[in-house]
Amino acid sequence: MQRIPEEKIDEIRSQADIVDVVGSYVQLKKQGRNYTGLCPFHGEKTPSFSVSPEKQIFHCFGCGKGGNVFSFLMQIDGLSFVESVKKVADMAHIPLDVEISSGDGSASVRPDSQEGKMIEIHQLTSKLYHYLLMETEEGQEALQYLLDRGMSEQELDLFEIGFAPAHASTVTTFLQKREVDLPLAVECGLLTERDDGNIVDRFRNRIMFPIKNDRGQLVGFSGRLFNQEDGPKYLNSPETPIFNKRNILYHFSDARQEIRKKEEILLLEGYMDVISSVLANFNNGVASMGTSLTEEHVQMIRRVTNRAIICYDGDRAGIEASFKAGTLLAEQHRLEVFVLQLPNGKDPDDFIRSEGVEKFAEVYAHQRLTWTAFKLQFLRRNRNLQNETEKIAYLGEALAEIGKLDQAVERELYLKQLGSEFELSMDALKQQLQQTVASTSRAKPRDYGGPPPEEYGDYPVFDGGGGPVYEEFSFQPPSQAPSAGLTSEKRLLKYMVEDRDAFIQIRNMMQEQEIDFYHDNYKALYTHLIGFYASGNDANPLVLMDQLPDDMSRNLVSELEMMILNTDVSTEEYQDYVFSLKKASIERDIKEKEQQLQIASQQGEMTLALELARTITTMRANLKNNT
Ligand code: UTP
Ligand code: MN
Repeated sequence: MQRIPEEKIDEIRSQADIVDVVGSYVQLKKQGRNYTGLCPFHGEKTPSFSVSPEKQIFHCFGCGKGGNVFSFLMQIDGLSFVESVKKVADMAHIPLDVEISSGDGSASVRPDSQEGKMIEIHQLTSKLYHYLLMETEEGQEALQYLLDRGMSEQELDLFEIGFAPAHASTVTTFLQKREVDLPLAVECGLLTERDDGNIVDRFRNRIMFPIKNDRGQLVGFSGRLFNQEDGPKYLNSPETPIFNKRNILYHFSDARQEIRKKEEILLLEGYMDVISSVLANFNNGVASMGTSLTEEHVQMIRRVTNRAIICYDGDRAGIEASFKAGTLLAEQHRLEVFVLQLPNGKDPDDFIRSEGVEKFAEVYAHQRLTWTAFKLQFLRRNRNLQNETEKIAYLGEALAEIGKLDQAVERELYLKQLGSEFELSMDALKQQLQQTVASTSRAKPRDYGGPPPEEYGDYPVFDGGGGPVYEEFSFQPPSQAPSAGLTSEKRLLKYMVEDRDAFIQIRNMMQEQEIDFYHDNYKALYTHLIGFYASGNDANPLVLMDQLPDDMSRNLVSELEMMILNTDVSTEEYQDYVFSLKKASIERDIKEKEQQLQIASQQGEMTLALELARTITTMRANLKNNT
């Protein structure tokens, strides 16, 4: 495994902002000093996931997961530590020279797992395809085709576009030489087994587009014809354990950051459209794999944004597809949807290459149709509006659409448009609208995916009888009812994590009292903390998180860090908390002895019972003295 120097990690950590990184996966809202959102690690309807820009940590009060910027990426993208550091460096544009190869034990998916191996085979093959396109005689014609279409070598590198030669065994031989398990490559859909048992390349004489999943892992290919008519225009990888078209959007993992920045996603139809839109500085574009938008796609999108700009081909099929996708997004999932229609049946790729980047930016910014406007336009297709019956039918449908709008201003706007187009008075339209609305059930109130806005108001600050105070959350971490001493354990451990001197003082006090933390995860963190300080570290929760070997301890650190405590604490206070640990411990002992006493007297063991009763009395007295 590669090592990145501590100083470099510190530099990356200090320059990256966890809000940006997490924000490209989760929609966050500023809430007091923190940001909150729906936890990406467990399903929830109201946000209990919190990100602190001050502390640079995240914590979910619902499922308990927490950590720093690196552990976030490790968990959400399944990355190794080194990979996550690299990814943060990339996101923050900090140069970092580490080569991440999947064979070095740092791969996202364990390289010895089936999936890890499949991804590795894709990576190898993709490198081969790209090399064949860019550097070889065989790839010359395909390269020329792409260059003629206006692509630059830089773009080809960026999207790792490649070439699969016509020859039947280029990839097969290549993988064989690298001692790749060929049946597994068959299962990946890169090779096929012929009836005679011979294994050959599946993609032939095609321009190859590598396809990544939402974690940025290479999981499939799509190969385009370019100089022949045989077969489908695009041949995709078949369904495999790692490739399922329903949950893949081309370019999604690379677009994520920009989607979040622009607060909108650009939905396109084809790979070439995505590539051209990147050329036009629209890095928020994605495309499905030649299928219509699925429920899974919508879930992926919703995690990052509430607004979608649909820009499909300007032809008839594209308009129908826009209607279908828009209906799913706007009406079933209540996203804010706009539709961009390009003139003369062009697709975004044609448009950008022929009209230019600025023209596209202009259309993108100023010519988007709202979902309602698009729908009003869509409803008139195939209708002859000169015909009175059709006109009335259309008006009925249009009014039903307008009636769905929540805002009076919006309704007014579209009514005016209808009025002027069909020379109808506003009065007549309004009256008709009322009837339409009355006869169709009212549209459901909008669900923006989060809680209603009022829940974002001031949270009553939780104060469970002197318990920890979590800003903005009215609830406690949903562990079992806080047992005696838990609050003190929390506070002590928090002070110890945050301050080396506090650690030393508290540790001494605890040793004097012969007391340890009671709860397992507290005990474990305490043990790690001893090691952490012993190896010369200064207090630093973020560095500590990197060094903790397990998620349980990391989650606890983030929970402690989210607590708001008075930082100006005296030795007496530490002493008080240590005493209350002691007290809780004695109380637990007393309980245990009482149970033993009960059993003893039930079984008639009077000597034992007497002895136990005496012990309990002494312990009770002790307890009094201690408090
Ligand atoms: P298009 O035919 O519009 O292709 O199909 P394109 O992306 O614009 O490519 P060029 O510009 O003709 O080179 C749109 C998308 O539909 C899927 C692909 O994802 C493609 O990008 N598709 C199309 C297939 O999966 N298979 C096909 O045979 C055709
Ligand atoms: Mn095209």
